[in-house]
Amino acid sequence: MAPLTATFADAWPDKVNAHLADIGDMFQLGEDVLRNITTRFLQEFNQGLSQYGQAMAMIPTFVTGVPDGTETGTFLALDLGGTNLRVCQVDLNGDQTFNLKQQKYKVSEQLKTGEATALFDYMADSVDAFLTEQSSSPTVPTGSGPDSLSLPLGLTFSFPVEQTALDKGLLLTWTKGFSAKNAIGKDIVGLLQNAFDKKHLHVKCVALVNDTVGALLSRAYTAGGASCGAIFGTGTNGAYVEKVANLAKLGNHPAVARGGDMIVNTEWGGFDNSRVTLPSTPFDNKLDRESINPRFQAFEKFISGMYLGEITRNIFLSLIDAAPKPILFGGKATPQLNKHYGLDTELLSLVEAAWEDEEHLAPSDALPPTATDKHTSEEDGGKIDDAQLLDFTQSLGASRLQTATLHRLQRIRTIVVKHLGYSPEDVSLRDAALVRWACALVSRRAARLSATAVATVAVQMGRVKGIGSDAQVQGSDPIAVGVDGSLIQFYPRFEERMREALRVLIGEEGEKLVKIGLAKDGSGVGGTHTCSLSLHCALSSQ
Ligand code: GLC
Repeated sequence: MAPLTATFADAWPDKVNAHLADIGDMFQLGEDVLRNITTRFLQEFNQGLSQYGQAMAMIPTFVTGVPDGTETGTFLALDLGGTNLRVCQVDLNGDQTFNLKQQKYKVSEQLKTGEATALFDYMADSVDAFLTEQSSSPTVPTGSGPDSLSLPLGLTFSFPVEQTALDKGLLLTWTKGFSAKNAIGKDIVGLLQNAFDKKHLHVKCVALVNDTVGALLSRAYTAGGASCGAIFGTGTNGAYVEKVANLAKLGNHPAVARGGDMIVNTEWGGFDNSRVTLPSTPFDNKLDRESINPRFQAFEKFISGMYLGEITRNIFLSLIDAAPKPILFGGKATPQLNKHYGLDTELLSLVEAAWEDEEHLAPSDALPPTATDKHTSEEDGGKIDDAQLLDFTQSLGASRLQTATLHRLQRIRTIVVKHLGYSPEDVSLRDAALVRWACALVSRRAARLSATAVATVAVQMGRVKGIGSDAQVQGSDPIAVGVDGSLIQFYPRFEERMREALRVLIGEEGEKLVKIGLAKDGSGVGGTHTCSLSLHCALSSQ
């Protein structure tokens, strides 16, 4: 009897096709799956609104109003949450516009994972450096009393913080690769204020916000209203305007007697941590197992910029390691690909842009075809279409491709060579096609899952009743969503793919009501949202 491997090798092209189809299927989210996820999402929303300590924290923010664009003043803001720390000074002009000066400071791995005091000292040092660099100090409304000489500062702190007041909140857990010691359970404003006081800086942290809340407020300021803020960047999360009456867990808190609305920070990145609904693949499981927070932030790990590159790296590695024959890159890996988190989500974005955009790279920038690309043409006959690029029963010679397709694949080869450390001859046109396929699988799933979160907010706010074919829009006011983050801003077709799934979930009419607008200024500067909240705080304390 022939050994099993020989049988596999004989049928290799067919087996590869079947193997790739299996992987493709794992990443598809059909209508039923999308609907189930959204139904479960609504349940977790309501659990989080009723009780503390739930996987989805549904954090009351004590922000009970939204700016309308007429606010004025100059404020300091500090923004920690991703790759950079930002210090900004923002002048709100009262006409929905603002001016912004900002400085970014790198946050090293050591600061992210060392002692929390070192991180907070660094934050205070950065504010000090920023103020020193500014020729004129900000003119700010300072209120009265002993703090009247201090500059008020709003802190955007983009981690789950259980707020007990606008200027007080305990860190529940770190996310997005942060793990600084001795911070969990502590008041974040207190930690920052201590660091300011130790340095004798006349700065007072008057407000603490999550970036999603900042996005909602800042969009409300520039657009004259918003009811949801969402981040699709390094992490993902959303905040929306909820009725205080629905926040059962507030119990007898005075906010309940006041009634009205309050912004809730959902921390939707923690949705389905038990993974009963999210369709995990082996590539997701590996990512989770090797992460610094296994079993947490399940939803975020399917969606956000911190993780999409890593899921894709896991797919590449499995295709490189495939036996008895490698499927990708002739079985070669590079130091970049072998490194944990060595594939940046930016690569996915570049690859998809190179595929989408004819202008992205002139064909003359493309690398010449490899030997395998050239030698297959004569005997193979006619042209093949894009759907056949991954058909391993057919060879993929350059002359069999439409010119536009050839140029697209050549551009992708150039990107792979540049960013993943391959030599040009290691990357065939087939490899380029596989790379693009994997990137699109991962990012399309992320965009469709993002839609389940937005649909959940629309239903929770009572703007849509029912999910899927039952969905019925209530009223005609827009559902204004202020967004921020590299995926939604720069990833090709992210919003379009999200909207496709939104149509499935809340119908065409519902999808049209969702108005997505950037919550930042034109130059792509982040962190400004904090300032509108500090304004908010200053005004309400006057
Ligand atoms: C993570 C944080 C959350 C933040 C989001 C986007 O999910 O836990 O607080 O809003 O990233 O930055």
